[in-house]
Amino acid sequence: MFQKSPKKPTSSITFKTPEEIEKMRVAGRLAAEVLRMIHPHVREGVTTEYLDRLCHDHIVNVQQAIPAPLNYRGFPKSICTSVNHVVCHGIPGPKTLKKGDVLNIDITVIKDGYHGDTSRMFHVGPAPIAAQRVSRVSYECMCIGLRMVRPGIRLGDIGHAIQKYAEAQHCSVVREYCGHGIGREFHEEPQVLHYGNPGTGVELVPGMVFTIEPMINAGKRHVKVLPDGWTVVTKDHSFSAQWEHTVLVTDTGHEILTLPHDETL
Ligand code: MF3
Ligand code: CO
Ligand code: CO
Repeated sequence: MFQKSPKKPTSSITFKTPEEIEKMRVAGRLAAEVLRMIHPHVREGVTTEYLDRLCHDHIVNVQQAIPAPLNYRGFPKSICTSVNHVVCHGIPGPKTLKKGDVLNIDITVIKDGYHGDTSRMFHVGPAPIAAQRVSRVSYECMCIGLRMVRPGIRLGDIGHAIQKYAEAQHCSVVREYCGHGIGREFHEEPQVLHYGNPGTGVELVPGMVFTIEPMINAGKRHVKVLPDGWTVVTKDHSFSAQWEHTVLVTDTGHEILTLPHDETL
């Protein structure tokens, strides 16, 4: 999501009840299921608006859920498709995917009033080495963050670990967008920065649910928004990659709500 001014939080962190957690498990599972459904369709020659249509119809007709991006702050489509040097919030359109493209597909569904949010990278045929590299680094960054989630740890610890790994791999962390609390609202407190200082920030408590979704660039960290008001691209045109899961803080650690049951990190 868009990083807000640090001065005034608009609302506070919500702690989910067991009943709410069960609903968030359902929403998370549905979001993960859309990524799995769309995978075989991500091929050379298809347009991103075709992928959007398949996801939209699946979410609405099969899952009887709501695609959260559609009309969110005026976003015109049901999913985000961010190709190559697009960092995030790419709008599905008539351009066809070509061999060597890499893209992030970001799915958020609302079921029974609760959100599930997850995204991953896809490769269309063999990808350029630089693109493969940044995809892998962003995946590792997400995993590093997720594995740290447990009561008592602070968000600054997580942000720091992600930043340290990304920069050691000669990649950069996008600052303007971050993970977020999630629940009845798409974007809740707290903001989950993918950089920071150990021992700072919100301390995790059981019942918190938030996303970890590092946006990692192969080149410099700087980004700009295109005139459509949504599409975020790298200023230096380098490849960018992102993976995202929704995670619950449990008494003993965490539970990834958007991880398919037959998958591990
Ligand atoms: N799913 C994105 C996130 O992870 C937000 C997309 S907002 C949209 O926070 F309007 F672009 F859909
Ligand atoms: Co998100
Ligand atoms: Co998302």
